[in-house]
Amino acid sequence: MKSPEQKNEAWDNYWGETYQQHKKVRTFLPLFQDMFERGELGQNIVDIGSGVHPMSSLIPPELDARTVSIDRAGGEHTYGDNGLKIRFNLDDIDNARLVRQKIAKVAEFLDIQEGDPRNQIDCFVFSDILNYVDYRRVLKFLKPYLRIGGRFVMNEWPGRGYTDCHSEDGLDSIENLYRLLQQEGFVIERGPGISAPGEEVMVARLAA
Ligand SMILES: C[S@@+](CC[C@H](N)C(=O)[O-])C[C@H]1O[C@@H](n2cnc3c(N)ncnc32)[C@H](O)[C@@H]1O
Repeated sequence: MKSPEQKNEAWDNYWGETYQQHKKVRTFLPLFQDMFERGELGQNIVDIGSGVHPMSSLIPPELDARTVSIDRAGGEHTYGDNGLKIRFNLDDIDNARLVRQKIAKVAEFLDIQEGDPRNQIDCFVFSDILNYVDYRRVLKFLKPYLRIGGRFVMNEWPGRGYTDCHSEDGLDSIENLYRLLQQEGFVIERGPGISAPGEEVMVARLAA
C-alpha cells in the first residue's frame, strides 16, 4: 500500500489515462439517457474522482446541466460554460478551511445564493473512486449537499483498479454499501440484485 505522498505522485502520473472507457461509455450513456428522460438527473451535477474523462460528460447535452468534477490530480479550470474542475483530495475532508475554500468555488460556479450548496446538488457521480478513499466517511460527508430526492450514481466494484493505491477503508462489499446507503436514508433504485442495466451500476435516491 502506498503512502499519501506516493499516492499523490501515482495519481499525478496516471492523470490523462482512461479506465475501461469503452465499457463505461456503454454503461453510462444509456443510463444517463434513461435518467434524463425520466427527469431524474437535475441541473447541478458533481463528479467525484472524475479523472480526465468524467463520466458526467456523458450526460445528455440537452439537459444543459452544470457539472463540477473533483479530483486530487490535475488543475483547476472551467471547461466550456457548464464545467468546472476542482483539485481536492478527499482524504482532506477534515480540513475545514480547505473544504470551505473549495465549497465557495463550487457554490459560485453553480450560482448558489449565500454560498451554501447544502441540499443543492441534484446528482453525484462516482466511477471507480470508492476503492481509493474511506468510502463511508466520503459518502456521509457528501450527503448533506445532496437535495432530498437527489441521487448518487455509482459504477463501483470492491477490489477493482490499482490495488496499491486502494484505501484500507475503501469499498469492502456491495452489501455493506447498500446497508450504509439505506442507513443514511437512501432508496436503492438500481444495482446488482435490484435491477441492473449494467451489473456494476447503482443508483440511490435520497428519500429523507
Ligand atoms: C480509476 S480513476 C477513475 C476516473 C473516472 N472517474 C473514470 O471512471 O474513468 C480514479 C480517479 O480518482 C482520483 N482519486 C483517487 N484518490 C482520490 C482522492 N483521495 N481524492 C480525490 N480524487 C482521488 C484519481 O486521481 C483518479 O483520477
